[in-house]
Amino acid sequence: MRDMSLMEKIVSLAKRRGFIFPGSEIYGGLAGIYDYGPLGVELRHNIKQHFWNAFITDRDDVYGMSASILMPERVWEASGHTELFTDPLVECKTCHERVRADQPEAIAAHEESHPEKPEWSNPSVFNLLVETRLGASEKSATKVYLRGEITQGVHVNFKNVVDSMHPKIPFGIGQIGKAFRNEITPRDFIFRLREFEQMELQYYIRPDEEEGKRQFAFWKEFAFSWYQSLGFDKTRLRLRAHAPDERAHYAKDAWDIEYETPFGWKEAWGIHHRGDWDLRRHSEYSGHDLSYFDESTGERFIPWDIECSGGVDRAVLFVLLEAYREDELGGETRTYLALSPRIAPIKAMVSPLLKNKPDLVARAREVRDALRKAHPAIAWDDNGNIGKRYRRQDEIGTPFCITIDFDTLGETPELKDTVTLRHRDTGEQERLTVAEAAERIKGAIQ
Ligand code: GAP
Repeated sequence: MRDMSLMEKIVSLAKRRGFIFPGSEIYGGLAGIYDYGPLGVELRHNIKQHFWNAFITDRDDVYGMSASILMPERVWEASGHTELFTDPLVECKTCHERVRADQPEAIAAHEESHPEKPEWSNPSVFNLLVETRLGASEKSATKVYLRGEITQGVHVNFKNVVDSMHPKIPFGIGQIGKAFRNEITPRDFIFRLREFEQMELQYYIRPDEEEGKRQFAFWKEFAFSWYQSLGFDKTRLRLRAHAPDERAHYAKDAWDIEYETPFGWKEAWGIHHRGDWDLRRHSEYSGHDLSYFDESTGERFIPWDIECSGGVDRAVLFVLLEAYREDELGGETRTYLALSPRIAPIKAMVSPLLKNKPDLVARAREVRDALRKAHPAIAWDDNGNIGKRYRRQDEIGTPFCITIDFDTLGETPELKDTVTLRHRDTGEQERLTVAEAAERIKGAIQ
């Protein structure tokens, strides 16, 4: 088990440095709801972009789409969620707080908050779907659900994508977006939220046992290797098969990618063999034929679906936990985030050695503008002394700091137009031309 104080340090750093804030904090907040600040939104965006590139744009067999959050009740009846998307719940008979019956740690934590061990109600089932109503009057308003998984938005558009893009099977449809679950016990910062974001691929294949096994094995490995590329030490990630009684109602087979957090091994990502569950049920419930005609064989069938599904917020949390470091540099202790340059919110900070020298400032701004043309996310900082600026960037995971000094202006003629480039993890510095510094950044974020 890793050090639990790491979690507290991450929560504090995330708020202090503008990554993640409690949602609507000035009104007392809402359990399981968080807001992303200026750096958090960039980190989250970079993770999503990395997913989108690997799973969608870099492939010829996958299409992207973006479905709506609000969907009619019938969708969720068809998918099985109104009936089966439940958690067992128990209620404390002393204070009436409700806790998940299958989470002994939540029960134990609650019992500790009472002087005497409280009595619990018998377990009941609690549906996690979040409902609302649409319509201008009470009478005509219709019940709709905020999607409990982004998946169904893809399945209900299966025919639209087939008719517009004419894909050859096997093919996939990928999506990123918000999902909502009325979690009984949201907990562990942004690990279990009531509003969160998912990134998913639904990969449609011929309904064939061997093909199913082959594709499942392929996507399991693909997702595992992609997750590692977010910058994880391999020893803290593992693949785990679900036991048959642990699988969701739609899954023929299911594996999780798990990360070793300070609160144990936890699910980061799921790979599910959904068979023909979703398309068959939507065909039945909507009355629209969601089968696929394979021109190469002349067969018509309902495809099977291999799903890759990951939480964006969990990826943000796990990436922060993984990257957090404390060390000593130049005789001082420091905190830094060893984020992969690819997902770091800021790629490089440009700075004049001294703020009160107009020539240095003007040249530094030129360098910043030139680098910005080559890469987005190049920051400027001229506050305080250079050591403090480095520490600030270390703490938010900026991989490079570039300083413009008197040598850049030509004080040492052979160093004219060169800058110092400092590496976050080692604190080492090298002297480079601006073009070479731009190449270093490019090489690191690819
Ligand atoms: N479409 C399949 C599906 O939704 P899931 O295992 O329920 O499967 C997929 O969710 C991923 O979504 C999980 O691996 C996790 O990363 C993320 N996730 C699920 N519930 C979450 C919650 N309450 N808060 C944050 N992330 C969550």
